[in-house]
Amino acid sequence: MQIRMDGKVALVTGGSRGIGRAIAAAFAGAGARVMITSRSAESCAAAAKELGPAVDFEAGHVGREADVDRVIEATLARLGRIDVLVNNAATNPYAGPMIDVDRARWDKTFETNLTAPMFWTQKVWHRWMRDHGGAVINISSVGGLSTTRLLGVYDMTKAAMIHMTKQLAAELAPSVRVNCLAPGVVRTEFARPLWEGEAGEKMLKAYPLGRLGEPEDVAGAALFLAADTGRWITGQTWVLDGGGLVAFTEIA
Ligand SMILES: NC(=O)c1ccc[n+]([C@@H]2O[C@H](COP(=O)([O-])OP(=O)(O)OC[C@H]3O[C@@H](n4cnc5c(N)ncnc54)[C@H](OP(=O)(O)O)[C@@H]3O)[C@@H](O)[C@H]2O)c1
Repeated sequence: MQIRMDGKVALVTGGSRGIGRAIAAAFAGAGARVMITSRSAESCAAAAKELGPAVDFEAGHVGREADVDRVIEATLARLGRIDVLVNNAATNPYAGPMIDVDRARWDKTFETNLTAPMFWTQKVWHRWMRDHGGAVINISSVGGLSTTRLLGVYDMTKAAMIHMTKQLAAELAPSVRVNCLAPGVVRTEFARPLWEGEAGEKMLKAYPLGRLGEPEDVAGAALFLAADTGRWITGQTWVLDGGGLVAFTEIA
C-alpha cells in the first residue's frame, strides 16, 4: 500500500531540523504541501530549499501568540488549508532532579512543550479544522510513560501531552483525529548528549532492536497517522523506541 497525501496541507512546528524536518520530508514525498516553522527564519529557509517546492516556511516562536497567529494565517493565505497539524517543537532547558527545578525553567518547559501545542490546536481548530476536518499529531516521548533520573520536568510535559491527546481526541471527534507519537532516543541535535560517545554506547544496550532511532523512523508513523491510513485511529499514543520499553530489566 502506498500512503499518499495529495492535495493535503500540513503545518509542522519545529520543522527546520530533526524529527520535524523528517516529517515534513515524508509528507512532501507523499504529495502534501507543507508549512514548516521554527524560531530561526534562516534554518527554515535552508530546510525548505532542500526539501523542495512543496515546502514553504514562516518563522515564529511556538509560545508567542502573535507568531502563532501569523504562521497559521500565512499557511491559509499561501497554501489554502490546514489538514494536518504536527505539534513537534519542544525544549528542555533543565536537566536534574525535578525537586530542585527553578520556576523559570519549569514555566518555559511547560509553555513550549504543553501550552503551545494546546493553543496551536485550539487556533487551527477555530480557523480551519472545525469546519473542514483534519488530523493533529503530537510528538511526545517515552519519557512521558516512565521516569528518568534527569529529565523529570520534560517528562512531565510529555506525560501531560499524552493525556491532552486523549482529551482533545474525544472533544474534536468525529471531524478531527488527534494522535500522539512517543519516541525513544532519536539521533538529533536535541538528544545528542544521550546518544553521543560513551553515553550512547550505554544507551544502545537498552534497545533490543540494536540501534537508536533516526528521524525517519518517526516520520513513517506520522505519515501513517496523518494520511487516510489512520482514518479509524484517534486518541492513541504509539511508542516508537526500538523495543526500549519492553527490554528485560536486569535483576541481580
Ligand atoms: N530526539 C529524541 O531523542 C526525542 C525523543 C523523544 C521525543 N522527542 C521529541 O521530538 C520533537 C522534536 O525533537 P528533535 O529531537 O527533532 O529536536 P531538534 O532536532 O532540536 O529540533 C527541534 C525543532 O524545534 C524548533 N524549536 C525549538 N524551540 C522552539 C520554539 N520555542 N519555537 C519554535 N520552534 C522551536 C527548532 O528550531 P529553532 O531552534 O530554529 O526554533 C527545531 O526546528 C520534540 O517534541 C522532542 O521532545 C525527541
